[in-house]
Amino acid sequence: MLLRIRVARVAELEVGRALAVEVNGKRVALCRPSQDEFYAIDDICSHALASLSEGELMGYEIECPKHGAHFDIRTGEALTLPATRSVHTYKLVVENGELFIEMPDEGR
Ligand code: FES
Repeated sequence: MLLRIRVARVAELEVGRALAVEVNGKRVALCRPSQDEFYAIDDICSHALASLSEGELMGYEIECPKHGAHFDIRTGEALTLPATRSVHTYKLVVENGELFIEMPDEGR
C-alpha cells in the first residue's frame, strides 16, 4: 500500500536548500533546486551516518557534508566516491501550497 503524507508547506523550503523531515519512521531530505521543482531522497547518506540535508545543494546534486560524495536528487544515484550505493527517492506532490510525499507502507 502507498502512503501519502503531508510533510511541509512549500513556503518552508527555501530555493537551493534542503530540509530534513521525519516521515513514517524515515528521515527524508526535501530538496528545492528551483522555484517550482521539489524532490525527496533519503536524508541518511548511503556511505555512513551523515545527514544529506546538511550538505550543499547545487542544481540537481547534493553533497554529503561528511566525506563529500555527490548524489543526484532526481534519481538518488551516487555520483562520486566514497558513496557507491544510491539512496532512495520518493515522489513528492504539490497541492495548495503543501508538499505531500508518497512512500510504500512498510507496516511501521
Ligand atoms: S557519510 Fe556521506 S560520503 Fe561518507
